[in-house]
Amino acid sequence: MDAAYKRVNGDHSPEEETGEPGTGRRRNSYLEEDTSRKSEVITCIFSLKEEVGALAKALRLFEDNGINLTHIESRPSRMNKKEYEFFISVEPSCSQALDEVIDSLRTQISGHVHELSRNKQKDTVPWFPKDIQDLDRFANQILSYGSELDADHPGFKDPVYRARRKEFADIAYNYKHGQAIPRVEYTEEEKVTWGIVFRELKALYPTHACREHNRVFPLLEEYCGYKPDNIPQLEDVSRFLQSCTGFRLRPVAGLLSSRDFLAGLAFRVFHSTQYIRHGSKPTYTPEPDVCHELLGHVPLFADPRFAQFSQEIGLASLGAPDEYIEKLATVYWFTVEFGLCKQGSDIKVYGAGLLSSFGELKYCLTDKPQLKPFDPEKTIQQKYPITEYQPVYFVAESFEDAKEKVRKFATTIPRPFSVRYNPYTQSIEVLNNTQQLTNLADCVHSELGKLCEALKKL
Ligand SMILES: [Fe+2]
Repeated sequence: MDAAYKRVNGDHSPEEETGEPGTGRRRNSYLEEDTSRKSEVITCIFSLKEEVGALAKALRLFEDNGINLTHIESRPSRMNKKEYEFFISVEPSCSQALDEVIDSLRTQISGHVHELSRNKQKDTVPWFPKDIQDLDRFANQILSYGSELDADHPGFKDPVYRARRKEFADIAYNYKHGQAIPRVEYTEEEKVTWGIVFRELKALYPTHACREHNRVFPLLEEYCGYKPDNIPQLEDVSRFLQSCTGFRLRPVAGLLSSRDFLAGLAFRVFHSTQYIRHGSKPTYTPEPDVCHELLGHVPLFADPRFAQFSQEIGLASLGAPDEYIEKLATVYWFTVEFGLCKQGSDIKVYGAGLLSSFGELKYCLTDKPQLKPFDPEKTIQQKYPITEYQPVYFVAESFEDAKEKVRKFATTIPRPFSVRYNPYTQSIEVLNNTQQLTNLADCVHSELGKLCEALKKL
């Protein structure tokens, strides 16, 4: 069973919370109080579903916690037509009690809460990379180093394998954006392991994989050295992907936090392992390895629509509160890792966790698992096991449809700005001022001009 989850949803650690590397300063959580603003009135916005008694229930929470509202206004929600938003002010002395109310609003009546005065953007939005070079910072924020194996790992008692894993981890740890990914001379034993996995999976792809995967796979065989007796080099594959969709690979030394991993996708950067699973169990890996990345993920990242879909998840994650990072990681899990999609009258596989595990690849298209339509609002509520086959899969209508749904879901993430990726500068533009919006309008205007001109020529 593939456990790509560990990298995407790795346990949170204190290090993960660190803001600036080396400073030891805890990164501000979304609702962390800024003590320098204690004397100011606290304001926040919460939204509730439009139903009889909803506001009364919410107000009772304030009353029960002894909070006196000094101001309240309401308006229809701009994010969700079925909801109303309430803007409130309370005295600063109520700060602690307000935390409890906010917690109850979220858990008891599932309201969305966005604090304003205690959470100026600079204090409350978690740091996120703005330039592609900023991804270099993640190298020393990994949750565990590549050679640290669990006691039940097949390579745990193999000193040669552990030393080899350290070599790979060191490559990734020292890698900087813009460098070529160092080439690796894989051993004969490693190539044998790859060959077993490669042959078994390749035999299943024509009947199980989606058409996008099957369209790209022969190109990888032709241009990137995909064959049973050769493990392709990340650098060659990365160059191929860049020519197809602008996606690129970046070696990773260990587990990244969900936040950091997803942020890479916003730049069309995929953090990839370079080592291979232990040779004693070629059909099993407790973590992502090069077979999972190259056979499961890479073919799809060469597809323009899938690339856009993946980037959309990444963009949605930038500066999102922790609870939404968890939701996006769940969306990622049920799509990029374990997604199914409709193709004509068939259902096919596009999730990398499935495309790199022949046991689950066969299982997922039987009548044993439950299939549900992909809908981010429902998908994020689905619990899932990480050590056995999935009991539930979500089926996308198409990558385009899935992308639109994720984009719509992203509008519900409470962050006080929108973001856009500028492929020319390889940077994230935060769209929170008129200059940025004017620049964007100019770009759109120019693109529309080209579209109109081309249409006239048809
Ligand atoms: Fe994965």
